[in-house]
Amino acid sequence: ATLLVNASAGRLMPNTLFGIFFEEINHAGAGGLWGELVNNRGFEAGGPNTPSNIDPWSIIGDESSLVVSTDRSSCFERNKIALRMEVLCDNTGSNICPAGGVGIYNPGFWGMNIEEGKTYKVALYVRSLGSINISVSLKSSNGLQTLATANIIASASDVVNWTKAEVSLEAQGTNQNSRLQLTANQKGVIWFDQVSAMPLETYKGHGFRKELVEMLADIKPRFIRFPGGCFVEGEWLRNAFRWKETIGPWEERPGHFGDVWKYWTDDGLGHFELLQLAEDLGALPIWVFNNGISHNDEVDTSSILPFVQEALDGIEFARGDSGSKWGSVRAAMGHPEPFDLRYVAVGNEDCGKKNYRGNYLKFYDAIKRVYPDIKIISNCDGSSRSLDHPADYYDFHVYTSANNLFSMAHQFDRTSRNGPKAFVSEYAVTGRDAGTGSLLAALAEAAFLIGLEKNSDVVEMASYAPLFVHVNDRRWNPDAIVFNSAQQYGTPSYWVQRFFMDSSGATLLNATLQTNSSALIASAIIWQNSVDNENYLKIKIVNFGSSAVSLRISVDGLGLNSIQQSGSTMTVLTSANPMDENSFKEPKKVVPIQSRFDNAGKEMNVALSPLSLTSFDLLT
Ligand code: AHR
Repeated sequence: ATLLVNASAGRLMPNTLFGIFFEEINHAGAGGLWGELVNNRGFEAGGPNTPSNIDPWSIIGDESSLVVSTDRSSCFERNKIALRMEVLCDNTGSNICPAGGVGIYNPGFWGMNIEEGKTYKVALYVRSLGSINISVSLKSSNGLQTLATANIIASASDVVNWTKAEVSLEAQGTNQNSRLQLTANQKGVIWFDQVSAMPLETYKGHGFRKELVEMLADIKPRFIRFPGGCFVEGEWLRNAFRWKETIGPWEERPGHFGDVWKYWTDDGLGHFELLQLAEDLGALPIWVFNNGISHNDEVDTSSILPFVQEALDGIEFARGDSGSKWGSVRAAMGHPEPFDLRYVAVGNEDCGKKNYRGNYLKFYDAIKRVYPDIKIISNCDGSSRSLDHPADYYDFHVYTSANNLFSMAHQFDRTSRNGPKAFVSEYAVTGRDAGTGSLLAALAEAAFLIGLEKNSDVVEMASYAPLFVHVNDRRWNPDAIVFNSAQQYGTPSYWVQRFFMDSSGATLLNATLQTNSSALIASAIIWQNSVDNENYLKIKIVNFGSSAVSLRISVDGLGLNSIQQSGSTMTVLTSANPMDENSFKEPKKVVPIQSRFDNAGKEMNVALSPLSLTSFDLLT
C-alpha cells in the first residue's frame, strides 16, 4: 500500500475541532471531578420530604445512646432539612457513652481518599441548646484507624443559632476508603446541616480533583460541552438540571435527584463551576440547556417563555458585565470578568419531540435578538437533509458497533457544504465490541475521527461520550476515563484522543491511500508546536485489519530536505488482542508507545501492526 501526501496545498481545520463532553453521569462530577468528599452534605437526598433520605450517612451508636432524625429547621431557605442528633449518653453518670462517642459518619462516594500529609477543610453548620464538644475526624471505613481529628467546642450562647464551624485536618495516614465522622459524648441535642469536606489542594484551587482535570488538560480540549446529555433533560422536567438552582454559596444550593442516571447531586459542581472548568482548561464552554422537554413530559410552546427567560439569564450569568443582574451574581461568586460563552445548545436529543421545533424557534429568536453572535446548536440532524429551522450547528450523536463506526468515517463525505455545520457532540463504539473500553472500539473511533478531520469543512466540533465513569456506578459503558476515590486510568478511547489533540487549528493536507485494502484510513496534518515553535507533519493511520501492512509513504511538496532526520517519532496504539482493555491492575496495558523514528524522509517504508493506530510525527 502507498500513502501519497501532498504538502503543497492544505486546508485549515477549525480551531474548535476536538473537545470534550462533560455529563453528570456515572458520578462523573459528584464523587468524581468535583473535589467534595461528603455525599449528601445537607441530608436532602430524595428531595424536601421529612424524614429525608440521609443515605449514605450512617449512625454510630444505638438506641440507648442516641436518636437521629431530620426536621425542617435549617437556616437555608432552599434546603430546609437539617439533621437532629439527640445524644442520650454522657461522659459521667449511669449511661456512659461508648469510647469514641456517638454520632454520624459519611463514607463519601464509596470511600473518601485521604492521603498522609494532605490537608482537608471541613465546614459545617451546627446549632444546639447547650454547649457542644464535637469531634470531627477522618477515619478508616471501619472507624478503627484515625487519620486526622479536631474538636469543635462552643458554649451554648455561641451555637444557640445556626453557626458555621470550620476545621482544617491534616492527615497522619493514608486510606482510600475513609469516612468523615462527627461524634459527641455529652448529653444534649445538636443539629447539623451542610457538612462539607474538601481537599485543600484542587486544580487551580477551584475545587476540581486535580488528577482528573489533568487528564483532560493533557488532551488539550478546545471546547467543553456540559452538563449533559440526558442529565439536562431529566426523565421528568421536575428533575431536570436547572442552572439557577446550582449557583451561589454552596450551602444554599438545594441539590437535586437526576432521575435519568438515578442519583442525587448536591450540585457543588454547578453552572458557575463548569464555566470555570472551561476557562481553566482553555476550552470554550458549550452550554446545553433544557428547552422545556424531558424524556416524558414537554412544555407547550405557548407556555415556553419562562424557560426562554431562564436560558437568557443563564447566558447573562456567563457573559453579562458585572453590573448586569445575573453578571453581578457571577461577580459575587468571584469571577467579575465574563466567561467566554459563544455557543449554546437548545436541548439534547429532542428533535423528534412534539414541541421541539416550536420551542426551539422561541429560544433561537430570543437569543439572537439579545446575543446575535452566539452560535445556536439544534438537536436535529442536518447531515443528510436540510433543517426546517435556522441554526448555526446541528448536533449529531452516534453509538454503534466497531465496524459501523469505522465505515462512518465517510458519514459526512456527501453532506451538503452549504447548510449549518455539524457538531458531533457524542460518539463512541458501544455494545459487545466495546466491553468496558476495548482497543477495537478505540481503533474504530480513531478511523471515524480521521474521517471527521477530512470533513472538517462541515464538521466543526466533535467530542467522545461519556467522558467519566466512577467504577462503582457504571450507568454507561464504555467511557473515556475510569476512576475510583483514589485512582484513574484512560481507556484506549481516551488514548485515541491524544492522537488528535494537535488537529484543531492545524492544516489538513491531501493524503491519498493507494491500496486494495478497505481496512486502512489515513490523514496528514501540519501543526505548530507552541512549546518549541516547530512545525510537525503528523501522519496518522488506522490499520483496522488483522494483518500487518507494509506501507510506503511519499511526501511531496515540502521542499528539499524539509523533513528532518532527528526529532521525529512514531507512536503506536495496539495490543495482542482487539478486546484488550486497561484496568486498575493494568492501567497501561493498551496505551500509545512512542519511539524514535529514524527513517524520516520524503520517502518512507513503514510497517503497520495489525489492529493499530500509528502516528508519525515528523519534524519539518
Ligand atoms: O452519553 C450518554 C447519553 O447518550 C447522553 O446522556 C445522551 O445524550 C445520549 O443518549
